[in-house]
Amino acid sequence: MLHLPKMRPCILATGGCGYIGSHVVVELVAAGYQVVILDNFENSTHKTAARIKRLCKRHVTIVEGDVCDRALVEDTLLQYNVNAVIHLAGKKAVGESMADPILYFHDNLLGAIALLEAMRNCDVGRIVFSSSATVYGASEMQPLAETASTCVLNPYGRTKLMIEEMIDDVTASAQDFKAVSLRYFNPVGAHPSGQIGENPTDVPNNLFPYVSQTAAGIRDKVRVFGGDYETPDGTGVRDYIHVVDLAKGHVAALDYLFSDHAARHERINLGTGTGYSVLEVIEAFSKASGTRVAYEIVARRPGDVAVSLADATFAKTLLGWEATHNLTRMCKDHWAFQCGGKPDEKDSSFTRQLHFSENVLSGS
Ligand code: WQD
Repeated sequence: MLHLPKMRPCILATGGCGYIGSHVVVELVAAGYQVVILDNFENSTHKTAARIKRLCKRHVTIVEGDVCDRALVEDTLLQYNVNAVIHLAGKKAVGESMADPILYFHDNLLGAIALLEAMRNCDVGRIVFSSSATVYGASEMQPLAETASTCVLNPYGRTKLMIEEMIDDVTASAQDFKAVSLRYFNPVGAHPSGQIGENPTDVPNNLFPYVSQTAAGIRDKVRVFGGDYETPDGTGVRDYIHVVDLAKGHVAALDYLFSDHAARHERINLGTGTGYSVLEVIEAFSKASGTRVAYEIVARRPGDVAVSLADATFAKTLLGWEATHNLTRMCKDHWAFQCGGKPDEKDSSFTRQLHFSENVLSGS
C-alpha cells in the first residue's frame, strides 16, 4: 500500500542534470512524480538541461545553485513543497579524491550536512542517497551483499560511507525520517534516445567512456590496466549496470519510502549480479559499434580490485526491482549517445572516424 501525499509528490533531485541524475529525473517524471532539480552545472551543461526537459514531456523546474547553500536548499524545499529528496550531487572521481581529499570532504560532506539540516528545518523526511559499491573496498567475498564489511580505500569512498553513517544518526534521532542509500556498482550506457548520457569533458577515468571514445577515434587505444588478475582472462571483472536500470532503482526506492513499511535506513545494492572482464567489454563494444577497439595490456592501476560483483537479491525482495538490460544493450546505447547525442560537439576527426567505421562495416 503506497501512502503517497494527495498531490503528485514533489521530489528534489540534487545533481539532477548529471549523468545519473538526468536519467533518474526522466524516470521520476515517467512514474508520475513532480521534479525540481538543484544543480550547480559544475559537471553538466544547460544543453543537457534542455534535453532532460524535452525527454520528460512535462514541466521540470531547474534551480541553478549548490547543495552546500543551505538557505537556497530551504527556500527550494518550501517554495515547491518538496516531499522527498534524491541526493545525487557530489564529486565522484576516485583519483581526484586521492589528489585533493579536502575538496571531496568539503563538497560531499558539507553538501550532505547542509541538505540534511535544510530537510530537518523544512520537515522533509524522506531521502534516497546516491552511495557507491566503493564502500566495500577490496573484498574476497564475491558477490557482495549489503551485510558485507566496508573498507574504504580512498577519500571518495570515505565520504560515501560517512554520509551513510550520518544518515543512520539522523534517522535514529527523528521519528519520521526515512532513508535508502543506494550502493551503485558500475553505471554505464545511456538513454535509448541518445539524447542524454555520460559526457566526460576531460580524459575519462572509467572504462566505458574510454572504450567509447576509442571506438569513435577520439582516443587511439584502450590501456587495459592489468592482465594478471585471478580472473578467467586476467583482466578486471566488474558488475556493469545500465543507467536506465539504475534510474528505475531510484524510483523503486522512493516508492518504498512512501510506503507504510519503510524502515529507518536501508542500504541497497544496485547491480546485476553478473560480471564482465575488461576484454569482454572491449569485445562487446567492438561488436555493438562496428569498430575494432584497439587496446594494449599495461600495468595494474593502483587501488583496483580484481573482481567487484553485486549480490542484488535484497533490491529484488525489498523493492521488487531488478536490472533488465544486458551488456549488448549497455554498449549499443552508450555508442548511440557517443555518435548522436552530441551533434553540436562533433569535430572533423570524429566525423572521419565514423566514416572509417562505415568502411569497416562494408569491409572495403
Ligand atoms: C572498470 C575496470 C579497471 C579504465 C569506479 C569507481 C566507483 C564507481 C565506478 C562512482 C577496472 C579497468 C578502466 C581504463 C581499464 N564510480 N579499466 N582501463 O574502478 O570499477 O569503479 O567507477 O561511484 O566508485 O571506483 O570503474 O570503469 O574505472 O574500471 O582497464 O582506461 O576497467 O582496471 O578493472 P571502477 P572503472
